[in-house]
Amino acid sequence: MSNTISVTLTVNGKRQTITAASDTPLLWVLREELKLTGTKFGCGVGQCGACTVHLNGEPTQSCLHALKDVNGKTVTTIEGLSPDSSHPLQKAWLVEQVPQCGYCQSGQIMRAAGLLKQNPRPTREQIVEYMSPNICRCGTYVRIASAIERAARETGAQS
Ligand code: FES
Ligand code: FES
Repeated sequence: MSNTISVTLTVNGKRQTITAASDTPLLWVLREELKLTGTKFGCGVGQCGACTVHLNGEPTQSCLHALKDVNGKTVTTIEGLSPDSSHPLQKAWLVEQVPQCGYCQSGQIMRAAGLLKQNPRPTREQIVEYMSPNICRCGTYVRIASAIERAARETGAQS
């Protein structure tokens, strides 16, 4: 049985206080309370990656984190990845025309952003391994990998 609690967290740079059942998944807090619907519901059990966000800077499945466990934490969603959708990954996604139906793509980009943060020049093998928790029912995996490589190249070229 869950009780109602109030939790304060920072979402896309803004402090938010949420009052809801303590076991409410972060995914539903984002979508239902904060109307950040770029984060998608797929399986609800940590198996698809559609709900991937950054929690304290690390990519994770937001369906797996209960409200009671995110007090004081920092969350970044696809809406907060860049102020104007100009993150190198977002630009590379457009150039490579990655999405098909699009449903999994915000989760894919958030996971890819986590990869480039820890490894700015990943090999194709490292990309495939790191991205493996994120499923794409449309099979856009090759374009996802190409876009990550493009973003890595172009980020490197700027630095
Ligand atoms: S909805 Fe969270 S991993 Fe599938
Ligand atoms: S683009 Fe359709 S599920 Fe990935």
